[in-house]
Amino acid sequence: MAADAVAAAMAASSLCDDLEPATVRTCIRDVLAAGAARAGERVVVGGWVRTGREQGKGTFAFLELSDGSCVSTLQVIVDAAVHPLARLTATGTSVLVEGEIKEPPEGTKQNVELKVSRVLEVGEVDAAAYPLPKGKVKLTLEKLRDVVHLRSRTNTIGAVARIRHQLAYATHRFFEENRFLYVHTPIITTSDCEGAGEMFQVTTLFSQAEKTEKELKENPAPSESEIESAKVIVKEKGDAVAQLKAAKASKQDISAAVDILNRAKEHVSKLEERSKLKPGIPCRDDGSIAFENDFFKRQAFLTVSGQLQVETYACALSSVYTFGPTFRAENSHTSRHLAEFWMVEPEIAFANLQDDMNCAEKYVQYLCKWLLDHCREDMEFMVKNYDKSAIERLELVSSTPFVRISYTKAVELLKNVTGKKFDNKVEWGIDLASEHERYLTEDIFKKPVIVYNYPKGIKAFYMRLNDDDKTVAAMDVLVPKVGELVGGSQREERLDVLKQRILDAGLPLEPYEWYLDLRRFGSVKHSGFGLGFERMILFATGMENIRDVIPFPRYPGRADL
Ligand code: 4AD
Ligand code: MG
Repeated sequence: MAADAVAAAMAASSLCDDLEPATVRTCIRDVLAAGAARAGERVVVGGWVRTGREQGKGTFAFLELSDGSCVSTLQVIVDAAVHPLARLTATGTSVLVEGEIKEPPEGTKQNVELKVSRVLEVGEVDAAAYPLPKGKVKLTLEKLRDVVHLRSRTNTIGAVARIRHQLAYATHRFFEENRFLYVHTPIITTSDCEGAGEMFQVTTLFSQAEKTEKELKENPAPSESEIESAKVIVKEKGDAVAQLKAAKASKQDISAAVDILNRAKEHVSKLEERSKLKPGIPCRDDGSIAFENDFFKRQAFLTVSGQLQVETYACALSSVYTFGPTFRAENSHTSRHLAEFWMVEPEIAFANLQDDMNCAEKYVQYLCKWLLDHCREDMEFMVKNYDKSAIERLELVSSTPFVRISYTKAVELLKNVTGKKFDNKVEWGIDLASEHERYLTEDIFKKPVIVYNYPKGIKAFYMRLNDDDKTVAAMDVLVPKVGELVGGSQREERLDVLKQRILDAGLPLEPYEWYLDLRRFGSVKHSGFGLGFERMILFATGMENIRDVIPFPRYPGRADL
């Protein structure tokens, strides 16, 4: 078939005469970006009314329409003859309209506007019941968390969503450009990566117990005597079969009697099975919970990090990364912690700690540069409304090498601080608190700082032990506004050392045997890190609270929707 015939056939096959025609909608962002160049063009635009006002004694209305494709709204003009205006002007109303792009009258600050010829669809709003205020009135970010299902309609949450999207996209671009493979690691896991015991358990034992309890109420378990009587029937039916056999009865009669006997036996085993049903969570003889009765026949959890699993792919495919949700059941109420957050975790074979730091630095710089190049309007919105220095910070970070200092040096610097009193005392061996991390990056260096070689006692078992036997090849990237943005390390590739580190951490070896296998078979020097995705958004936008940079925040006491 000729190429044009193929194209025609494809076009025809995509048309379904029995369905409503497809909606060819133009993004408000594209209408605004083209400006006067598209004047005169007819387009279909959809969105939600931010503000609507009737003008000219009710002869027409201006609607400020947002479809979430950019911060700016499109001014839409509808005549009363086209649609009843009162049904369009309430904040939150959705409309799909067709109209002509027009250059606005001179002297107005609008770039272009849309003169509507047809209103195709409307989703009306009861203004009195709508939780979001009209026009310039704003709810606080805290109040918006109570209407998490509607807050995406605000300028702030919209801008954050677009920045978040661009950061995710840039993440994949960066790793693709550097020949990394994206690996999907499991959400449900049976290994505790950080060994900190902060995992949410995944179990069906509770729902099973509830179900059993309900069933037992409706249909109580059989009593001993019920089972006994059923057994008597089995005996009778067995005798009947024996008698028929002795009397040399016909094959047909015998097999009918055997069928009856089998059914009686089945009934007994069902009764016996049901008699074992007990209300409550199944327990072993020693009183511990019988997880062998659980869905996975063992304890399972939501992952705290995909690192251990992604290491299996790094030890075969060399440069890999995972990017997914992670979960921590720590009771943190800070503005930097979530119970569910997203983490980007590259893992690189044949890489040491310096390679790891280089990768983290290049990646963070790439993200900053990407936002400067692709998210100007949203970043300008952030500067205007939340953080005057947000763009400057991106410029600085994308172009300045990060400071690199050892943990020992960092402690020394913090100990010598005179102008400030820390809540947590600084001593070699402590886990640096957020106030220390922020002081290093915000006050001492005023740029991102990578702290490396931490005391082994405060870091996870998988980090490579240094020759001093006191520190591990760990590194944290600290950035202004946030503190710790990245945590990573070179991994312990020596089998014996790793075994000992697992035991020293008080963990059992058995669940980590597969992880140890990576060291038994073709062990390789390798390194990786985890970047807290929401912390990166906080850093980029200058937003204060991590609960406002994830669409559906989960933290102690809160998991809406
Ligand atoms: O330092 P963390 O705990 O490192 C790991 O999980 C390693 N397994 C990563 C790896 O090497 N592949 O966490 C990494 C980053 C932190 O630096 C922080 O930015 C973020 O994840 N993070 C959190 N973000 C939000 N809420 C929390 N509760 C967080 N805990 C860690
Ligand atoms: Mg950490």
